Amino acid sequence: MQKNEVMALIDSLSVEEKIGQLVQLTGDFFTNETEETITGPIKKLGLNENYNIYHTGSILNITNAHEIIKIQEKYLENSGHKIPLLFMADIIYGFRTIFPIPLAQTCSWNFDLIEEAASISAKESYEEGLHVTFSPMVDIVRDTRWGRVMESPGEDTLMAELFAERVIKGLQGNSEQKIPKDKIAGCVKHFAAYGAPIAGREYNAVDMSEHTLREVYLPSYLSAVKAKVKLVMTAFNTLNGVPSTGNEWLNKMILRDEFKFAGVLISDYAAVEELITHGYANGPKEAAQLALKATVDIDMKTSVFANELGAIVNNNEQMMDLLNKAVYRILSLKNDLGLFEDPYRGLKERSAENSSILCSEHKKTALMLSEESIVLLKNNGVLPLEKGKKAAIIGPYHDEKSTLGMWAIKGDINDTITLKDGINEIVGNNKNPFCRGSHLIEKETAHLLGKFEDKIPNERISNDELIEEAVNLAKDSEIVILALGESIFQSGEGGSRTEITLPKPQQKLFEAIKKLNKQIITIIYSGRPLILTDVEKHSDALIQAWFPGIMGGKALANILYGISNPSGKLSMSFPRSVGQIPIYYNELNTGRPDLPENAFYRFASRYIDESNKPLFSFGYGLSYTTYQYNSVSLNKKLIRQNSHDELIITVEVENTGDYDGYEIVQLYIRDQFGSTARPVKVLKDFKKVFIRKGEVKTISFTITEEQLNIYRSDLSFASEPGQFDVYIGSSSEDLPLKESFELIQTS
Ligand code: IFM
Repeated sequence: MQKNEVMALIDSLSVEEKIGQLVQLTGDFFTNETEETITGPIKKLGLNENYNIYHTGSILNITNAHEIIKIQEKYLENSGHKIPLLFMADIIYGFRTIFPIPLAQTCSWNFDLIEEAASISAKESYEEGLHVTFSPMVDIVRDTRWGRVMESPGEDTLMAELFAERVIKGLQGNSEQKIPKDKIAGCVKHFAAYGAPIAGREYNAVDMSEHTLREVYLPSYLSAVKAKVKLVMTAFNTLNGVPSTGNEWLNKMILRDEFKFAGVLISDYAAVEELITHGYANGPKEAAQLALKATVDIDMKTSVFANELGAIVNNNEQMMDLLNKAVYRILSLKNDLGLFEDPYRGLKERSAENSSILCSEHKKTALMLSEESIVLLKNNGVLPLEKGKKAAIIGPYHDEKSTLGMWAIKGDINDTITLKDGINEIVGNNKNPFCRGSHLIEKETAHLLGKFEDKIPNERISNDELIEEAVNLAKDSEIVILALGESIFQSGEGGSRTEITLPKPQQKLFEAIKKLNKQIITIIYSGRPLILTDVEKHSDALIQAWFPGIMGGKALANILYGISNPSGKLSMSFPRSVGQIPIYYNELNTGRPDLPENAFYRFASRYIDESNKPLFSFGYGLSYTTYQYNSVSLNKKLIRQNSHDELIITVEVENTGDYDGYEIVQLYIRDQFGSTARPVKVLKDFKKVFIRKGEVKTISFTITEEQLNIYRSDLSFASEPGQFDVYIGSSSEDLPLKESFELIQTS
């Protein structure tokens, strides 16, 4: 359809039909099956009796072809203007081929692979009939207590910007307007700053300066908008006192007017109605008004728009105009998906034999991403393992299939290759002894996991008995591999924790094994950086597996036995203790920094009982080989306001170890002085390069003035002339090469 045809269609709609386009319901309204909401409070919708469900614009969380066809057919039969429904769902890191969780994916620093994974998610979702996924989530997180950190790209703005751009490309393709075959529409979320709830507590208020908001938190959403994302989702939280879903300044002035976002703005689940609970709207009518004024187009799963908008737009030109604009944006999305030409997007013609879902190519990508996401945190030489070495594989994750994380809604844990499967494939069946070793979590805390409680294995054997078995097994082995971690239900939405250590039963197991004085290789499954200070101290090797997707066990085994050389580096700092949180590498300098020369001076910015440094810093990760950073060269000056000028930085990196490997060469910049205080360093670029053993590689970076832009005290975004330091190395804390340059003003 052309734009004028969309406009003509809108003109032909009744007010009720227009309002219906803004309403999103779950599929059970059409199938009469029992409602099963995926997250959030289960709400009785309380729609007005005269609401015609065949005016509804979109459906949430119906994810299989058969039901999608059934609902669309029934809808089109019954609806007046036969405007096809949109089907939306949370396909966050894989449809059926489940990849590592996003926080793990960014540890690969391989954005080509991340794009490919998103493209596979899109293809599988497309084949099953979905139109929109609520991905990517690009909320920056500095507080690992927050459960949804697993869905985030981590703590760094550049990484989040790249993640946003590449996931959108993978999902939607490169076309400016139309969404091609095999692709679906993406929805960036949660606008804005949902990843910064006070104290890491889910849904809590967010309070931050506009300066930090703009410099750290907003760029990733902007990056998605620049990549032509079709939808944006509002956030549940208040931002500086105003709930995001009703925040006109945020959504209208920043997102639409400043970022030029012309697509669909959807509320998070029930967030329009929650404007009342926030104490921001005095009832449903005001909630609807506020959300419409904030340019929210779709009300996800409440009756507020459906019940209230009629009276609001009646005789009110301004509100009617807002309604028409929202309808235009929704119909344009349907048009871009080609739904007016074919409401099924080829679904009816597809056959199961041609399905790519879970095909070997997709699994191969999942394996690669899993291997590259895993981070080797410590290795005193015990790894890689020799195949002949007798290793006892112990821990609740030694053979656990439930390692897909909280948002794998179409994932089937039976597709998972467990650690045991992976090891058996390499060394032969049951050459190594295996046992569970401990309960996953304490029975007493299981109820805190809410509706997921029943999914926690119901252990009949006591923890002490399990530990005893493990100790006997370990005594008989040369080496112990401990597969430990938090339950998948301890992270994800509603999974905020204050004690982010290993669950207690596993701590007891670790203590018992530690006493045996065996070599210990610890593998950690988790959705967040846990506090691993004691675990690190007593392990000979430590591997961060995250929730690694269906191919995780194979990826881990490949790394354990040196079939694959680890290359992942952290996209988020690991605190030493909860008291350090929030902890992140790009902090602002203070007037009294914690420097070695004032180590005995009390009045510096530090703790008296803990180091300022994280246990593992952003960008950190080991390999089986070693790299030496030899030399750096750069031109010393960059001219301001000269778009042709750029700074070329060249470094030499040598693989000095015994294995070929991928090194992630990181470049950080420190702006020495600014009109607003500057971070101690900021990641500006990186290169993931393959270097053979003994080989020296020359790596070049190009820095332009644009990368030096900052938010100034008047919130203008521009560079400022002056001195800059450049640091290059293998992590935010290990930066052996240092140089400086000047940004000069010529006129
Ligand atoms: O997409 C999600 C969102 O991230 C959290 N609330 C529910 C939405 C839809 O399922």
